[in-house]
Amino acid sequence: MKRQLGSTVLEVEQGDITQLDVDAIVNAANSSLLGGGGVDGAIHRAAGPELLAKCRTLGGCPTGQARLTLGYRLPARHVIHTVGPVWHGGASGEAELLASCYRASLQLAAEHGLHSVAFPAISCGVYGYPVPAALAIACEAVATWLRSHEHAITEVRFVAYGEAIRQQWEQALAALTLPG
Ligand code: APR
Repeated sequence: MKRQLGSTVLEVEQGDITQLDVDAIVNAANSSLLGGGGVDGAIHRAAGPELLAKCRTLGGCPTGQARLTLGYRLPARHVIHTVGPVWHGGASGEAELLASCYRASLQLAAEHGLHSVAFPAISCGVYGYPVPAALAIACEAVATWLRSHEHAITEVRFVAYGEAIRQQWEQALAALTLPG
């Protein structure tokens, strides 16, 4: 499913984010930035050992923030590592921290002149964030950021790893009220 927001195409798709030929794929990392399971593990396996070697020099990343590296052996030119919140029931600022992951990732991409960015469903796996809420936050945060940063990013891809989450993400994107 695709929708247009200003000069940006927003797209939901199903697949393996490590295979995407985009300027940057976003990694759902942990605060150490030293790898893990899930999409983090998949990205490190596909990028090769140079990625971990680089991440070791970054000194970690606080929840809600993002760090940029090259993509090394990935088809993607760069990886934006962001650390989503662990779900603790919703009263610990999780929603704002998750939104911050999406905003910080787009901000970093724009600052480095990157135009196509692919996101996994941050915090929707190991970190246990309720999926419908997380995907609504993802769409809202991206749309809000794009509205105040015209022409920066031309393509945002929401990459669902499974059919169920793809359907849920399409519902979240369809529910967005977009201008025009
Ligand atoms: N491509 C796209 N999405 C993927 C892929 C992949 N190759 N592999 C997993 N996913 C999806 C998961 O199905 C889930 O929907 O990414 C989403 C995020 O799940 P996790 O990878 O578990 O990330 P998160 O919930 O943010 O937990 C982060 O897990 O792997 C560790 O080091 C990581 O400690 C950190 C924690």
